[in-house]
Amino acid sequence: MAEIGKDIEKSAALLASGELVAIPTETVYGLAGNALDEKAVVQIFKSKNRPRFDPLIVHVAGIDQVYNYVESIPEELKALAEAFWPGPLTLLLTKKSIIPDLVTSGLGKVGVRVPNHALTLSLLERLDFPLAAPSANPFGYISPTSASHVQDHLGDKLAYILDGGHCEVGLESTIVGMEEGQVIIYRLGGISVSAIEEIVGKVLILPQSSSNPQSPGMLKSHYAPRKRMILGDLDELMQQHQSEKGDFAILSFKRSFSDVPASNQVALSSSGDFDEAARNLFSAMRRLDETDTSLILAEELPEIHLGKAINDRLRRAAAK
Ligand code: TXA
Ligand code: MG
Repeated sequence: MAEIGKDIEKSAALLASGELVAIPTETVYGLAGNALDEKAVVQIFKSKNRPRFDPLIVHVAGIDQVYNYVESIPEELKALAEAFWPGPLTLLLTKKSIIPDLVTSGLGKVGVRVPNHALTLSLLERLDFPLAAPSANPFGYISPTSASHVQDHLGDKLAYILDGGHCEVGLESTIVGMEEGQVIIYRLGGISVSAIEEIVGKVLILPQSSSNPQSPGMLKSHYAPRKRMILGDLDELMQQHQSEKGDFAILSFKRSFSDVPASNQVALSSSGDFDEAARNLFSAMRRLDETDTSLILAEELPEIHLGKAINDRLRRAAAK
């Protein structure tokens, strides 16, 4: 089991000596290592059983540091960085050779972001190298939004877990880049499409449901509970599975169900708040995955605000 605590000095020393530390961010916990140290980066891939073709995001303390690692930042993406950093936005930018090819899985662009978490920002300020950090979950499982989620699945692979409480946003960063003058969203996430379009106008959203060559890691079956999850109209699904009563759990947006045991259901936000729903999504999926039911029935949210990104995660979880 990894030690859990709030010791930034200790985290910095471990990272400087090539060890891995789980770090809190506003989105999800990251499994961090020195991005410039190939040995540490190899350990990251190994620890979470992640295929080498799935590139890692690099975390820095501020936009000034980004220039050490990338050739340039196009105007549109700079405007997004100014609007949303520190925050749940990752930019794909042409890398300098100091970033190992291993980090980007051989791609010419590196994903960079400034996370919005006080502990991790002061850790990054103390380091003279950036942190490569994928979400701190075993490859394919639900992303962690608390220190105990990390401990549950990766505790034996880590030197230390820096405990920053429950993640405020709860969904991974929105990944944005540019090709031929067009701003593209590669992964829906914690910053909504409409917030991005307010800054740079209409964007192109790449199909999210399948893997694409730009982002080979965005596999369909991702963020998935071990139990089967079915997405649809909850009333209809409950009707269809009535004979298995008690053998399913329910994940709803707002509603609770009087004929389903309280321990077998979660409403993401009883007041219908999209931010609250995002914050609760992954811990709700983990909780329901641990019930003795064999099936999770879930519903999509309206496709507005963070509903788009939440639905993306639900669809991937159900795609197994
Ligand atoms: O919010 C987040 O982004 C969290 C926290 C820890 O920062 N990190 C995260 O990392 O979600 P990860 O590794 O679970 O997902 C990163 C995804 C990869 O699967 C890949 O698809 C995409 O980002 N990505 C990273 N670098 C890329 C690159 N150079 N080109 C294309 N896609 C990239
Ligand atoms: Mg991940």
